[in-house]
Amino acid sequence: MRIDIITVLPELLKSPFEASILKRAIEKGLVEVHFHNLRDYTDKSYNQVDDYQFGGGAGMVLMIEPIDKCITALKASRTYDEIIYMTPDGETLNQKMANGMSLLKNVIILCGHYKGVDQRVRDTLITREISIGDYVLSGGELGAAILCDTVIRLIPGVLNNETSALTDTFQDNLLAPPVYTRPSEYKGMKVPEVLLSGNFPKIEKWREDQAMERTEKLRPDLLG
Ligand code: ADE
Repeated sequence: MRIDIITVLPELLKSPFEASILKRAIEKGLVEVHFHNLRDYTDKSYNQVDDYQFGGGAGMVLMIEPIDKCITALKASRTYDEIIYMTPDGETLNQKMANGMSLLKNVIILCGHYKGVDQRVRDTLITREISIGDYVLSGGELGAAILCDTVIRLIPGVLNNETSALTDTFQDNLLAPPVYTRPSEYKGMKVPEVLLSGNFPKIEKWREDQAMERTEKLRPDLLG
């Protein structure tokens, strides 16, 4: 998979890709992530990429020209499955969307800033709009990092033990069951007996029951 991220703040985005699972995925060649500074695609003085909105109103708007130039340059080299715009009024990201996206080959992610982008960008260049939740960030960068994190960990081969993504919370619309590690007893608090039993069918059944119980109690909305 190749991800091209268009941003006015590449420095804000780089560190999540320099540690842990994302770093390893890049090193293994399972994903390529490229950052494009929108300011490299403007002819205006002071590398200007935003302007006042027509009709008046507070807040600057990212102009269509540098965004169009950047996307056109990228599209000249390959075909993109999806050109995503990070915005609070997009579809809310969930695990099902991440699962689907992990199968894509080439993706562009455009990070908004200030008041957002000229509507003509959204109307003509963008294929999908994604929000990470019902709250407003200063820009799309942190949202893009979250989107990349959740998608990249699902790419086959990224996690050491592939079943560990299959048992994540939200897979099958269930919360994950509780987990425990050594010691089996700490300050009188014991690990559930069944997990120490070595009876794997029984352990599996216990996990399924716990997942259902937790989902009913904490997130009944997931069960429809
Ligand atoms: N940009 C600003 N707020 C955002 C949000 N909630 N999700 C994605 N991008 C955003």
